[in-house]
Order: sequence, then structure tokens, then C-alpha cells
Amino acid sequence: MEIKAARGTKDIYGTLALKFQAIIQASELFKRHGFEQMITPIFENTALFTRGIGETTDIVEKEMYTFDDKGGRSLTLRPEGTASVVRAYGEHKLYQEGTQKFFYHGPMFRYERPQAGRYREFYQMGVEVIGESDSSIDVEVIAMADNFLNRLGIKNYEIQINTLGCGSCRSEYQEALKSFLRARSQHLCEDCLRRLEKNPLRVLDCKVPTCREQFTEVPLMVDFLDEVCQEHFSQVQAGLDALNIAYRVNRQLVRGLDYYQRTVFEFVSTQLGAQGTILGGGRYNQLVGEICETIDQPAIGFAAGMERMAMLMEEVGQNERKVAICWQAKSSQLVALQLKVALAKEGITTLMSYEEKSFKAQFKQANKQKVDFALIIGEEEMSTKQVKVKNFMTQEEYLVAQQEVIKFIKEA
Ligand code: HAM
Repeated sequence: MEIKAARGTKDIYGTLALKFQAIIQASELFKRHGFEQMITPIFENTALFTRGIGETTDIVEKEMYTFDDKGGRSLTLRPEGTASVVRAYGEHKLYQEGTQKFFYHGPMFRYERPQAGRYREFYQMGVEVIGESDSSIDVEVIAMADNFLNRLGIKNYEIQINTLGCGSCRSEYQEALKSFLRARSQHLCEDCLRRLEKNPLRVLDCKVPTCREQFTEVPLMVDFLDEVCQEHFSQVQAGLDALNIAYRVNRQLVRGLDYYQRTVFEFVSTQLGAQGTILGGGRYNQLVGEICETIDQPAIGFAAGMERMAMLMEEVGQNERKVAICWQAKSSQLVALQLKVALAKEGITTLMSYEEKSFKAQFKQANKQKVDFALIIGEEEMSTKQVKVKNFMTQEEYLVAQQEVIKFIKEA
């Protein structure tokens, strides 16, 4: 039987690969904000995620790729990047060097039901700032996310923000939420009933329509915020206003991971169908303490799905110069190869046939591949140590000495 890619995975080539390259290039913006790249392992000890993401989240309850290795250790393919960056930060004592800012990209794994824009292996581009509690960094991170998407030509989305308060104001809210939900328990699904007692905020994340119908009059976190959290959220809004960033406060935005506190945000597009969230993130002021134990630092970050960004991007053009090297007799093949290697070394994209073919066939191929120039090495050119350069855009032809060809193409 033919073996196919596993369900929920895909091969990345052609246009999608070009878009991924463009996304990675656009991360240059993060460097301009003082971020450095971090690459963490694809698998981690399972406890990192159960502790970090939260035991009652969908990710930990249903979606992790967890297995025992041959030494009997429980390992998990990373479902997200934040917990790993925080672990690395603590493990390498990076807190000794002050505030740390990282960006990362790579594959993540979640056992979800695949559909357009939702995969079991998907790619994220994310950032994390560890060591700052001021609202100005929340604003900078949201502004940076906005500019990042704009750089890729993605513009049609709504920025939604909310606050989830801190540990202390949230416990009062959770009690109010529990009694509200208990009163409607006969209408809630099994998952909601189980989560209600352990972690009632998670119930609000339920996607079952009959459960969602119950949430219209649900108590809102905003009415339970303490003064410091209230002030923080007002400052975030004032900062976004000052930077002219349009946003909407969505009081029901809770996010699917447990580590968030205070600011949360999502960038939502209406062009992606059911999987409309392009980018999501927020502040996680207690996660560092939970993972690293001996230290405690406030933090904030976001991650964007690379496939979802790619779905919203226009075609990415290859704007580098492309040259076809056309040769005819066996005697000219080595000269063609020398030119190919030398041009590629100079950063020029080159193509050539590896078997003897008529010039007509080679031109046809060059046309198909949309080259800018063809270098033609026929018998006559071989005898005069020249190359005929054909400009495919203007159809003009020039005779150029072999040693001058690279210079000619670079300057053309
Ligand atoms: P998240 O909301 O779980 O947050 O994921 C962020 C983004 O990853 C989503 O908005 C979506 O674009 C993409 N994504 C998630 N699951 C899938 C999937 N199954 N298929 C395709 N794309 C997907 C986080 O992961 C947090 N670590 C973000 C963060 C960083 N918060 C603070 N720092």
C-alpha cells in the first residue's frame, strides 16, 4: 500500500515554502526590537507542559503527543513554545543578565481534528519577553505583532484584547463564575462539568454551541479586577491609543492556555473560516516561578501560526535574478558548469541542462522557468572564448568575453 503523510501533517514546498521563507525573513523586525533567536528541543519532559500549560486545558487533556522513550522517560512533542523558552531561561540562569527577549519558530504538535488552517503538526513564529512587568512592554509587543503581520502584507484582522486579572482578583471571580455555572449545569457538556470545579475559567473556552449559549450573561473578569490590574489594563489601552493601534476590548477572551494573567490578546481574521485566530498571546506573570521554582519574573509573549499567516499572504515573488546557461557540444559543458558555479557563488540563481539538448529545447525550458537571461555557448562562442548573452526581458543579445560574463550579469 502507498504510504502517505500522517493525518494532520503536510509537506512544505513551492509557494508555501516561499511564504515560510518570507515569514522567517520578516522576523528581522524582532531583532530591531532587541530580540534574539532561541531554538529549543522539539520534545521535552512531559511535566514541563502539564505544569506549564495547565492540567485542565484541551492541550494537556487531549492533544499532546506523549510517549515513553526506550529509557522509560515520559516525553512530549512540544505543543507550543513558551514553556520551553521559560525552562531554558531558568536552566541557563539567563535572569542573571537582566530582561531577556527571544523569538523562535518551528514545528509544534497538537492532536486536534484536522481542518483548513488546523493541523497536527503546524509551525509557529513566536516571541517572549521575560523580566518586565510594565504595561509599556505589553504595548510594544502588540505593536510589534501588528507591524510583523503588516510586513507580510496581512492587514485584514481585528486586534482583540482583554485582561484576566492576577491570582488574587481572579480567585474572587472564579467563585462567582462557579456559582453562575453550577446554576446552569444541566445545560453544560461533560468537559465543562469536570472543569467547572477545578478551573472554571476553562469552561468559557468550550466550543460546544449549547454550552456557549449559556455564557451570554456570564460574570466578567473586568468587574472583579483589583486596582493594580485595572490600572495596568487602562495603561495598555492608553498606550495602544497613543500608537494609533486599533483594537477592540473583548471581555470574553480567555485564551486556551492556563498561564495567562492580566493582558491577553488575539489577532483575528474573518478570512480564515472557523480557524480565525492568526496570532495569540498575553502576559504570564507566574509561569516563570512555576517552571523555574527558585526565581520569579513577569513575562509576556505571543505566537502566530505560520500556515494561517501564509493563507493570508499574497503570492511571494522571487525577485532574484535568474540565469539559464545553454550549451550544445560536450566540449562546452564544462565551461557552462564553470559559469554556473561562479554565478551561484555571486548570489545569482542559475539553471542548466545536464544532458545534451538542442538550443531550442533549452530556450523553451528557460522561458518556462521565467529566467531573466540566457548565456549561450555554441561552437562559435567556444572558439572566440565568448558567451552570447540574451536578455529575455528585452530580447536583446550581446557578445561578452567569458571572463567578463559575471560582471556583465551583475551590472545588467
Ligand atoms: P496558541 O493560541 O495556542 O498560543 O497558538 C498561537 C497560534 O498558533 C494560534 O493563534 C494559531 O495561529 C496557531 N495554531 C495553534 N494551533 C494550531 C493548529 N493546530 N494548526 C495550525 N495553527 C495552529 C500559544 O501557543 C502560546 N504559546 C502563545 C504565547 C506566547 N503566549 C505567550 N507567549
